[in-house]
Amino acid sequence: MASFSVPSSMKGVQMQRVGGPEVLQYKTDLPVPVPGNGEILVKNDYIGINYVDVYWRTGNMGVAPNGIIGREAEGKIVSTGPGDVDSLKVGDRVVWLSLGGYAEYTAVPSSLAFPVPANVEPGIAAAALLQGLFALSLVEKITQVKKGDWVLVHAAAGGVGLWLCQLLRAQGAKTIGTASTAEKLTLAKDNGADYVINYKEENDLVARIQEITQGYGVDIIFDGIGKDQTANNVHVVAQHGTIVTYGMASGFPGQAPYRELAAKKARFVGPGESSLMRNIGGEFQQWCAKLFDIMTKHNIAVRVHGTYPLSEMRKVHEDLEARKTTGKVLVTP
Ligand SMILES: NC(=O)c1ccc[n+]([C@@H]2O[C@H](COP(=O)([O-])OP(=O)(O)OC[C@H]3O[C@@H](n4cnc5c(N)ncnc54)[C@H](OP(=O)(O)O)[C@@H]3O)[C@@H](O)[C@H]2O)c1
Repeated sequence: MASFSVPSSMKGVQMQRVGGPEVLQYKTDLPVPVPGNGEILVKNDYIGINYVDVYWRTGNMGVAPNGIIGREAEGKIVSTGPGDVDSLKVGDRVVWLSLGGYAEYTAVPSSLAFPVPANVEPGIAAAALLQGLFALSLVEKITQVKKGDWVLVHAAAGGVGLWLCQLLRAQGAKTIGTASTAEKLTLAKDNGADYVINYKEENDLVARIQEITQGYGVDIIFDGIGKDQTANNVHVVAQHGTIVTYGMASGFPGQAPYRELAAKKARFVGPGESSLMRNIGGEFQQWCAKLFDIMTKHNIAVRVHGTYPLSEMRKVHEDLEARKTTGKVLVTP
């Protein structure tokens, strides 16, 4: 069995309090975690960044142990704790979805780690896992998109957005993507959006969507923006349609005009963190296998916007919040 020497201290980004990007402190002397019962210790090579990290930083998601946030990374198992760690062993390349990713080493439950398939290039598993799993769960679990459905995807050039565009293309849906720049709209279109709208420039988003759908509206709306789109979503959802609001990049969703929603017999779904991402019900491994299969089967392009050093985590958060990124941001320790 392979063995690795594990140092006692490591590089990482720690928060002592919640707040702006300035609370993210780069350190070189953090203690390396010791894996507990059923845990593995992973030396992270690529850390996946998600918009949800901003919510953790600002205190909307709870408090991370030791002040280290970060939901996912890819790397090598360097040691295992006592107890059963499934079939994983030291030396295996895994991708994991837990907490404590902004560091060189993370101890994670073995049940939340998945072996990276041999055909997946370095970094791509970390780039794909959270956003890919979430998009897949939106399309297949939270809603069941059918061929020919009209679907509206907000922030279509973002991490989850580009995944949705590609999965919806594979499903045969008619997708309308929104984004804030011409470059982002092109990207959304290249990844499968049939129609695109710049929601920063379009004065009447609702009228434009009604025009595209010839007055029908959209069957399903995927919205990670929240506040800015709450009213528009209700106006454009079709009879018996579904609005899924799963994020709040522009702020908490506002008050929806419920009378209109009720008149349309539309459904409003607001999933918090998807249960499969916390392995509630033991579904995590099964969905990871499905995700990597789909990546191969549908030739999914996992777009990496950029790879930043761990010491520049503040800039990563600044760029995310300034809407400068598309697809996925990675960080290397
Ligand atoms: N519930 C869950 O379990 C779960 C899981 C994954 C993701 N999410 C949510 O899904 C959303 C997308 O996540 P992601 O990681 O893929 O991020 P992302 O889409 O890559 O980045 C956020 C995008 O939101 C758009 N945006 C619109 N208004 C904004 C504003 N006022 N401030 C900042 N950005 C704004 C920007 O695109 P434009 O410039 O094109 O407007 C920006 O690039 C987030 O809200 C995230 O929290 C939820």
